[in-house]
Amino acid sequence: MKCWLLLLLLATCCAGADQPDRRSGYSLLGPDLRALQDDDFANPGMLWVDRGERLWNAASGPNQQSCRDCHGDPVNLRDLANRLPRFDATTNRLDNLDMLIRQCRTQRQQAEALTHESEDLLALTTLVAHQSRGLPLEVVVDGPASTAFEQGRASFERRRGQLDLSCADCHEKLRGARLRGETISAGMVNGFPLYRLTWEGLGSRQRMIRWCNEAVRAKPMDPESQRALALELYLAWRSRGLALEAPAVRR
Ligand code: HEC
Ligand code: HEC
Repeated sequence: MKCWLLLLLLATCCAGADQPDRRSGYSLLGPDLRALQDDDFANPGMLWVDRGERLWNAASGPNQQSCRDCHGDPVNLRDLANRLPRFDATTNRLDNLDMLIRQCRTQRQQAEALTHESEDLLALTTLVAHQSRGLPLEVVVDGPASTAFEQGRASFERRRGQLDLSCADCHEKLRGARLRGETISAGMVNGFPLYRLTWEGLGSRQRMIRWCNEAVRAKPMDPESQRALALELYLAWRSRGLALEAPAVRR
């Protein structure tokens, strides 16, 4: 851990200033990984899309209804994932894609709940997010969403963990520095759900937040808490205008 800190200190003097840089993590990939993401037959994340399609068509619940029975083709949910999380003024809280799918699953399909980060839920979120591939991220952060948005911003800037680093310290000040063999990106969320080679699997934005929190030895956040969703909203706003890439590939 000591040499890691040293590395961070060294990196501070070399990394760029904190001018806004909204480049997708894709820009840091080498040609091999870019090719892997771009080729739908090779992209490992597409396995989750395929699995999601099977689940989309599977009848479940007391009325034996599938997602398709009510929603038709998944493409009907295009232009949704790029606009999430979103504040729901009737329930007075933020929802992300995981939560919208989980709610629909139990309330409308009346089927057994999908657990957070389960392979089935990841498959459905990836299928739905994939429909919006190429669309720009665009979340609403004013009006009733503004309090949550400010909470998210504060959370991004708050130092945490034994290393006493904020998200902004790494993804703004130390952007471009090398850490554990990886180049620190601007921390954009336009690729999610995405396949990470270090995970040997696919994960959500909330899994990434957990991974980064663990890296600085900070206390984990409940991924469904409004606090965690407020941070996700801020991340989506930071990534505004970038094209959704789900399922992206990252190191
Ligand atoms: C010690 C430095 C460090 C801190 C602090 C840190 N991260 Fe990261 N983060 C990384 C590294 C390393 C990666 C993997 C390489 C990359 O994509 O930047 C990463 C990746 C990410 C990504 C994925 C980027 C992509 O293109 O897929 C997001 C989003 C992210 N971090 C968000 C956060 C948030 C939110 C926090 C605060 C809770 C945070 N990070 C704190 C180092 C850090
Ligand atoms: C019994 C009919 C029914 C079934 C079955 C059903 N849904 Fe829904 N779903 C709805 C209705 C109605 C809404 C709310 C209206 C809307 O936004 O389309 C909705 C909303 C949603 C939303 C939010 C859409 C938005 O724009 O806000 C998502 C995501 C979703 N459903 C996903 C699914 C998935 C995935 C499945 C299968 C696991 C599923 N639904 C099964 C009827 C259903």
